[in-house]
Amino acid sequence: MKILVATEKPFAAVAVEGIKEVVAEAGYELALLEKYTSRQELLDAVADADALIVRSDKVGADLFDAAPKLKIVVRAGAGYDNIDLEAATAHGVCVENTPGQNSNAVAELVFGLAVMAARNHLDGTSGTELKGKNLGIHAFGQVGRNVARIAKGFGMEVSALDPYCPDEVMVEAGVAPIKELTDLYKTSDYLSLHIPATAETKGSVGYDLVTLLPKGATLINTARKEVIDEQGLIKAMRERSDIKYVADIRPDAADEMEAEFGKRVLFTPKKMGAQTAEANINAGIAAARQCVAFLRDGIDRFRVNK
Ligand code: 3PG
Repeated sequence: MKILVATEKPFAAVAVEGIKEVVAEAGYELALLEKYTSRQELLDAVADADALIVRSDKVGADLFDAAPKLKIVVRAGAGYDNIDLEAATAHGVCVENTPGQNSNAVAELVFGLAVMAARNHLDGTSGTELKGKNLGIHAFGQVGRNVARIAKGFGMEVSALDPYCPDEVMVEAGVAPIKELTDLYKTSDYLSLHIPATAETKGSVGYDLVTLLPKGATLINTARKEVIDEQGLIKAMRERSDIKYVADIRPDAADEMEAEFGKRVLFTPKKMGAQTAEANINAGIAAARQCVAFLRDGIDRFRVNK
């Protein structure tokens, strides 16, 4: 059995070592394709793979067509919007993610971005503090819960909205459950997005929600750029010169936004939220273990397609 790790954005070396150990212990073969620059390299590499581990790498019908032996794809991470689930199912391939394994890393970056925004990118001018400010968490999954935990340390007042999460879970975490999206936005000095990119959420955060934010608010996006209606956000930021936007991954309109809004925006050059040694180890090793469990024992606990 051959397990291919294909990562355009590579794992930390220590994580790759851990993956190698798991695969060797199972008596399987490991192939590594890192920093590939063409689609063809990826398609060639999957030709004889039984299992595939990826990050945000695009996995679509072309890949399944090129991988006749493929039985499982594990997205080492949370969001699997990069994987065509229908095509996977049509090819009889199991798709899994590794929920929670990289969520602390993403949550820590939320505060890195928030502090950078609050301190004017550390440009020598006087900024503001997070303590005492209201933080609204839009979706209370694994990342949202870690964000809440860290926010408590900063002395922030935390509220969250998530129709899929019972109120008790939030209350137990010291977080106020909010039922109406408009209420969450109206009350959040910092609004942190943790919704997945789905047909329903894509382009769902735009002018109407952003203009509800209180004076001086910062919108933080460590989720996906696609959940933002960029033109709506730009319109809102033109009308509301007090609002800031910080994001882990450059929006399509990044150049335009940087030119127009200067320090009111801050973007990472690549998606960096999960780019820590710890998150790479957790997610990479979990992915390798899940591949082995599936290939050897048929276990598909984290399956996300039917
Ligand atoms: C995730 O969905 O797990 C994060 O966005 C991390 O993505 P990455 O593996 O591309 O860094």
